[in-house]
Amino acid sequence: MVSYEDIVENLSEGVIAVDTGMSVVVCNQAAEKITGFSRSLALGKALSELFARDAWLVDMVGKTLAEGRLFTEYGGKLHLRFSGTTDVGITTSRVFGADGVLSGAIALIRDTSGIKSFEAGSLRKERLAYIGTFAASLAHEIKNPLMGIRGAAQLLSRRSAGEADEYTRVIVSEADRLNLILNDMLDFARPARLTRRELNIHRVLDSVVLLVSEAAPAQTFTREYDPSLPPVFGDEGQLTQVFLNLVKNASEALGESGGRVEVLTRMVTGFHLLEPGREAEGAGKMAAVEIRDDGCGIKDEEIERIFTPFYTTKPKGSGLGMAVSLKIIKEHGGYLKIDSTPGEGTAVSVYLPVVRPADRVEH
Ligand SMILES: Nc1ncnc2c1ncn2[C@@H]1O[C@H](COP(=O)(O)OP(=O)(O)OP(=O)(O)O)[C@@H](O)[C@H]1O
Ligand SMILES: [Mg+2]
Repeated sequence: MVSYEDIVENLSEGVIAVDTGMSVVVCNQAAEKITGFSRSLALGKALSELFARDAWLVDMVGKTLAEGRLFTEYGGKLHLRFSGTTDVGITTSRVFGADGVLSGAIALIRDTSGIKSFEAGSLRKERLAYIGTFAASLAHEIKNPLMGIRGAAQLLSRRSAGEADEYTRVIVSEADRLNLILNDMLDFARPARLTRRELNIHRVLDSVVLLVSEAAPAQTFTREYDPSLPPVFGDEGQLTQVFLNLVKNASEALGESGGRVEVLTRMVTGFHLLEPGREAEGAGKMAAVEIRDDGCGIKDEEIERIFTPFYTTKPKGSGLGMAVSLKIIKEHGGYLKIDSTPGEGTAVSVYLPVVRPADRVEH
């Protein structure tokens, strides 16, 4: 027989439960591992004593117990017993006995340090900043002579009365492709100049899906929108570019023989996206756009690298799509998340701040 104790003990999420007096009554193995506290130390102790340096966590569990407030995947930093901190996502709920009487509260602790690792490391940031400047000046230098080459090829085509067309067409189209890449590089390196306004994100998605689906007739594109989604506060051109990159990537992951790309929208309460203590009224509400494909998927060790400029696995890719997209989303105060299983598919979720009722401009 599998007992409840065994189940709790073997969960990969940390479980800490308190009684109505806020003393720890359950602490499973994963909780020990994440926090560094041993169970013998934790059991019977006041939560506020155990997490003396993480008052936000104690506060959350207290609110859950006293007011019934539930937190879902609330992101924060937890102090480790000996040194340093780790990123965690906390989910809380109340515990009732069989008689319906409140007997305590539990906190599920998920170690999210891996998820955010691609953001970590100042060395990496410095390197990126350097690459950015370098790429921008390089792009700039290449653009002018490139346009010279393109123009000369067109002249040549006219002078040779069509004889060299086969070659000049290649020169012109490859020059155009290079030019697009250079523009991407410049976009990436340039500090943002966002012109933000209230935006119907569904309209943006419609135009993107139309564009990509026309180029891939064998694939199925479906949309599932939340009709009550409030407007997003964003730059239309930049966000179009983001979703074009993401939907194109999804389509390219499928291959030519078919497959499915789904675009979904919904509202989420983005508590887990905010700093602890900043869950001001309505501030946690975000629009989520999810782009799912049942394509090749991305290996775990590659997920971090796909945001690196020029990282690509495609013969004709520039490797800038994800880097540019992440940058734009961050400039919008948003967030990007990837779930992928090699061989099964990928889901990319973009979270963007919505226009709060208080900020609405009457038209
Ligand atoms: N939905 C996806 N499914 C599978 N792999 C993906 C997906 N999205 C991105 N990738 C991987 O991430 C890499 C980087 O993507 P990114 O959009 O930055 O560049 P690219 O698509 O290769 O080139 P570009 O977008 O400039 O044409 C891709 O080459 C691919 O390996
Ligand atoms: Mg791409």
